[in-house]
Amino acid sequence: MTGWQHTKSKAYIESVEQRLLNVRLTWVEQFLDIIADKSEGLPVSINDFGCQSFQFYKGLKLRSLNFDYHGYDIEKKYIEIGLRVFPCMAGKYSLMDISVAPPHRVSDISVISATLEHILDYRAALKNILTHTNRLVVLRTFFGDRTHCSVAREKGASHDYLIWEFSFSEIMGIFDELGFTTSIFRDQYTDSMPKYLSHEYVTKDIVRSQYVLVGERAT
Ligand SMILES: C[S@@+](CC[C@H](N)C(=O)[O-])C[C@H]1O[C@@H](n2cnc3c(N)ncnc32)[C@H](O)[C@@H]1O
Repeated sequence: MTGWQHTKSKAYIESVEQRLLNVRLTWVEQFLDIIADKSEGLPVSINDFGCQSFQFYKGLKLRSLNFDYHGYDIEKKYIEIGLRVFPCMAGKYSLMDISVAPPHRVSDISVISATLEHILDYRAALKNILTHTNRLVVLRTFFGDRTHCSVAREKGASHDYLIWEFSFSEIMGIFDELGFTTSIFRDQYTDSMPKYLSHEYVTKDIVRSQYVLVGERAT
């Protein structure tokens, strides 16, 4: 089955629209602070992987940052919500699986939040992203001591999906191999504290901690 919404509940897609209209997401603000710190005010091109309904673009717009943005997502329903709110995004997105094909362009900066941990072939996805980024990658995902995966069923969803937790060393090693130095930051929204995700899932015993990894291309 293509898309992604079949792994989520009806309440989830309603929350996507509600958050787009009403909420400034903490991770977006954290990423924009990191980018401001690293890009010295230069105009840049940005690829956003797992862009959903363009929450990150909303953050750029609210800060009046005229960056050259392009979003990538596998689920048409989320893109359609985004286009209703931001019609200017027509032509600024690609509907695709980032583990199957590379992005259509190289960018200065790539961002990916809460997406890599749901992709079966996360190594292919990460390679596609890193080989198409000139300067900076900001990645928000679940990290721990070892790489392992849970097959989870969200309450109200018709299909399972994957929730990986990655070992720091594996992901930092992939960045290193592809020419990036790495730093780890606490995720501001969760303070990188372990969260018991199973409240939202039929599947029990899933605990995850979210971190932000910043990769800078070594010169
Ligand atoms: C949990 S949401 C995160 C949305 C947003 N980045 C955020 O942090 O608020 C995950 C997003 O990744 C998309 N996605 C999942 N697998 C994907 C893949 N293989 N390629 C591209 N997008 C994918 C989903 O459709 C969904 O929009």
